[in-house]
Amino acid sequence: MDFTNTPYLESSKVLAHAKRLNWRTEVLIARNRKFFEGKRVLDLASHDGRFSYSALQCGASYVKGVEGRQEAVDEAFSNMEKMQIDRSKYDFEQCDLTAFLRTVEPGEFDVILCFGVFSHLVSQFEVLAEVKRIQPSLFILDTWVAREPMFKNFRNKMVNYIVNRSIDSVQLNNRQTGKWNIFNHLRKIVKQPSGSIVLLYEDPNAPGATIDKSGLMAWATNDALRMMFSHFDFNATEVDWHQQGVDDWRQLTDYKNAKRVSWLLQPSNTK
Ligand SMILES: C[S@@+](CC[C@H](N)C(=O)[O-])C[C@H]1O[C@@H](n2cnc3c(N)ncnc32)[C@H](O)[C@@H]1O
Repeated sequence: MDFTNTPYLESSKVLAHAKRLNWRTEVLIARNRKFFEGKRVLDLASHDGRFSYSALQCGASYVKGVEGRQEAVDEAFSNMEKMQIDRSKYDFEQCDLTAFLRTVEPGEFDVILCFGVFSHLVSQFEVLAEVKRIQPSLFILDTWVAREPMFKNFRNKMVNYIVNRSIDSVQLNNRQTGKWNIFNHLRKIVKQPSGSIVLLYEDPNAPGATIDKSGLMAWATNDALRMMFSHFDFNATEVDWHQQGVDDWRQLTDYKNAKRVSWLLQPSNTK
């Protein structure tokens, strides 16, 4: 799939370079083609429909895009027409994606895409709970992640370690005995999960931003994402962008530097 000479390069208001769109399509969609072929796809925050189009090009039978901004929805319809896609294969709706998810029946979509929007929301936990309820075969999450300062990360791990030890000894009656060894404790501390969610304001008038008028967004660290996936019992595989064959990282430096990450998620009781 190649975005060169497609209307998406003109209509997209957020990072629309053919090379970037091609690689995102290749890595996130085309390499998971088996999940798309003949399947129904829900594209959350579909913007001008660029990844809805990718999903159809990779074999999806139908795609529904949900997008908070009406002007982007209009562009999405117009782009599909320009690309001469059969009208019965797609639909776009202006709606808050979290509100839309609440209306979806379990099994209604086989694949759910959530690209470039997760960090702009404050409803991350609800989104994951709804996706879990809907039970798609695959949920693909692609998002900016925050970084946690090392001292804060270590302090949080230490708190978790202390709590877990106290649960062990008080609730499980599993008293720690033996010689006190600082290295042993340090080793266990660094293995503890710990994540942060940074609350920030962005300009809600920017085209890629939250649709919430307050501009509030909740930006999670990658470790916080891991903890959320574990909380909702998703089988989670992180896409290793360095193993995908990208030779020229221009237009993809956020992936190269792990400022943006991609996850393949499956609710634990689906295959
Ligand atoms: C950065 S763009 C990402 C577009 C596309 N999914 C991609 O990855 O290239 C974020 C999009 O999310 C939309 N958006 C933000 N908050 C939303 C919400 N709560 N519900 C639906 N769309 C939302 C914005 O209007 C914008 O089109």
